[in-house]
Amino acid sequence: MQVDHGQIRTKKSFLPLKLDGWDKSWSPYIYVGRHHTHKIILICKEDLVVTTCAMAATAEIKIGQVDDVQELHRMGLETVPDRYIRDGDDRPDGDNVCALAHIPVIDVGELPGDDELNKLRLACEEWGFFQVVNHGVEEELLDEMENLTREFFMLPLEEKEKYPMAPGGIQGYGHAFVFSEDQKLDWCNMLALGVEPSFIRQPKLWPTSPAKFKETLERYSVEVRGLCQRLLAHIARTLALPPATFRDMFGEAVQAVRMNFYPPCPRPELVMGLSAHSDGSAVTVLQQDMSCAGLQVLKGGAWVPVHPVPHALVINVGDTLEASQVLTNGRYRSVEHRAVTSAEQDRLSVVTFYAPAYDVELGPLPEFVTDEAPCRYRRFNHGEYSRHYVTSRLEGKKTLEFAKIN
Ligand code: OGA
Ligand code: NI
Repeated sequence: MQVDHGQIRTKKSFLPLKLDGWDKSWSPYIYVGRHHTHKIILICKEDLVVTTCAMAATAEIKIGQVDDVQELHRMGLETVPDRYIRDGDDRPDGDNVCALAHIPVIDVGELPGDDELNKLRLACEEWGFFQVVNHGVEEELLDEMENLTREFFMLPLEEKEKYPMAPGGIQGYGHAFVFSEDQKLDWCNMLALGVEPSFIRQPKLWPTSPAKFKETLERYSVEVRGLCQRLLAHIARTLALPPATFRDMFGEAVQAVRMNFYPPCPRPELVMGLSAHSDGSAVTVLQQDMSCAGLQVLKGGAWVPVHPVPHALVINVGDTLEASQVLTNGRYRSVEHRAVTSAEQDRLSVVTFYAPAYDVELGPLPEFVTDEAPCRYRRFNHGEYSRHYVTSRLEGKKTLEFAKIN
């Protein structure tokens, strides 16, 4: 695949498009260019354009006024702007919050012992969410990551805006998943960065302040990547698959991190910290501070708060894995979750998404397709899915419809 003088050449064809710019930040398989007022996305495989789609160019995406919620908080407002106020049935104060239930806690040091492996299987089947302790990531490193992330969010706005997330973009400081002027906004600030493989990195968006941020995020990401790989091996075991199944299938896995900061909100009963969604990853590792149980997981129609456990990490299976109905053909389900805010306390989370390489073809493992459980998902390319995920707004599990066979 070559991009030459604003036109696209492939081995077997020539696309007569005049394009005036390229963004190769996603992967060698996804090209994003502009053609007049439209954004053109090309998904390529082995030098061939597999799919193209056109959407309104970035400049055409009108997202309206998006306030910085930390600045709103600093102003000491007693109410919140309209764009944050949810409709009645989309508010966090409903009677469907089940404060007494707890997501399972798994001791990674006990894996792959039979008892703990059984607990892990049940956690995946019944919850799609669990906390891990004894996980091998050093507590000092977790503390350091948390402190530096907090320091970053506490910087003056002008400083944070040196790393801007483009409208409709996904990396940098700002609001991801905002695509229209009438969309409700989340009470949250985000810093999102692609980490691995290195071609997804946008080094200009990595904060140089606080000074140790970059180096700590590097070390943290290596440790969390190792944990994801160990957990995936255990998860394979719970499905009676060889431990290397997912490692072999995923290729050079994609790793991204999103840091979420939820300032106190004067009307927490009216707003959402983060809209309900499932993650587009294979597994997600979420580190949260001890402030309050802001993360909630949907279980049997009720929202169950995840109470912070010191130095534990919250794991959930994303769309492409466990919860990943896709690989296991519905045996492990990806679970919707959301974040709510508090009037008194701010809250911080550092979230790592671990996903298959973009060029990996995903589909149900043959082991999980039987006459009784026929194939429910088509094979699809993970890069294609990622692009679909990040260009859709967060809305429950709608993004996974993409892979379903009707
Ligand atoms: C996410 C997420 C929840 C939280 O970033 O995908 O679900 O508690 N975050 O920050
Ligand atoms: Ni999530």
